[in-house]
Amino acid sequence: MTHNSDRDLAVFLDVATEAAMTAGVILQQYWGNLTQIEEKGRPGDLVTEADRLAEQAILQVLSRHVSEHAILAEESGKLGKVEQTKYLWAIDPLDGTTNYAHGYPVAAVSVGLLIDGIPSVGVVYDPFRNELFRAAAGLGATCNRRPIRVSQTKELGKSLLVTGFAYDRRETSDNNYAEFCHLTHLTQGVRRSGSAALDLVNVAAGRLDGYWERGLSPWDIVAGIIILEEAGGKVTAYDGSPLNLVSGRILATNGQLHSSLREALKQTPPLAKWN
Ligand code: IPD
Ligand code: CA
Ligand code: CA
Repeated sequence: MTHNSDRDLAVFLDVATEAAMTAGVILQQYWGNLTQIEEKGRPGDLVTEADRLAEQAILQVLSRHVSEHAILAEESGKLGKVEQTKYLWAIDPLDGTTNYAHGYPVAAVSVGLLIDGIPSVGVVYDPFRNELFRAAAGLGATCNRRPIRVSQTKELGKSLLVTGFAYDRRETSDNNYAEFCHLTHLTQGVRRSGSAALDLVNVAAGRLDGYWERGLSPWDIVAGIIILEEAGGKVTAYDGSPLNLVSGRILATNGQLHSSLREALKQTPPLAKWN
């Protein structure tokens, strides 16, 4: 394993920033002007021309600066030697496609870099609020170049959480409905934004205290994970063990709430009506 200097990480962070901002401009241009909205497979899993064009723009930026790196991109799939590479970019050109296609302005570009399988560089750009979240391992997390930090909330009863529901929710009883109800009961509220990347950076910025979700893909969360960790947060699997990106399950908090949210998820009673 070769060592990555802070300088390398800062260079990759700038590449990620250029890619995310370029895609963000495309999302702004197509906002309200979509002509193609299609279902990709599962009902409700949408793709638009903005997703495709924004992804192409990101791929162009990466091929200019880091052509030797492999890429996992939501619309294009695996590019390069994804299984054997040291550097793997995980990109979602439009996280929040359902919101965007309906004209609900909650969506973001997510550009993350795994180094030896570990989220190490991340940029999430929200083109609606013009907020640029950035982080690299050991270099801190910022929003619009100002440092961000997680909240200090210690009790679930005082917390505001966020979650989401995957596109397979009608096909499985493991659909997060019961957990959503249980946590809504125990906290000051559970939001559902429709953008996993924004959920993670909003925990990083201390606006929300915790987040959990199942059925995610690496491109949804790699960038947000490193941003949250660098802001002082904690990211694991549901049971508190090290995160496994392939599992699609994430538990992400300000750190202080981690064990109580983990325990509450474990104790969730069944919700007969939806199962
Ligand atoms: C989705 C969003 C949503 C989450 C879904 C994701 P997309 O990504 O992140 O918040 O609940 O599981 O698939 O399809 O908008 O890129
Ligand atoms: Ca996504
Ligand atoms: Ca997407």
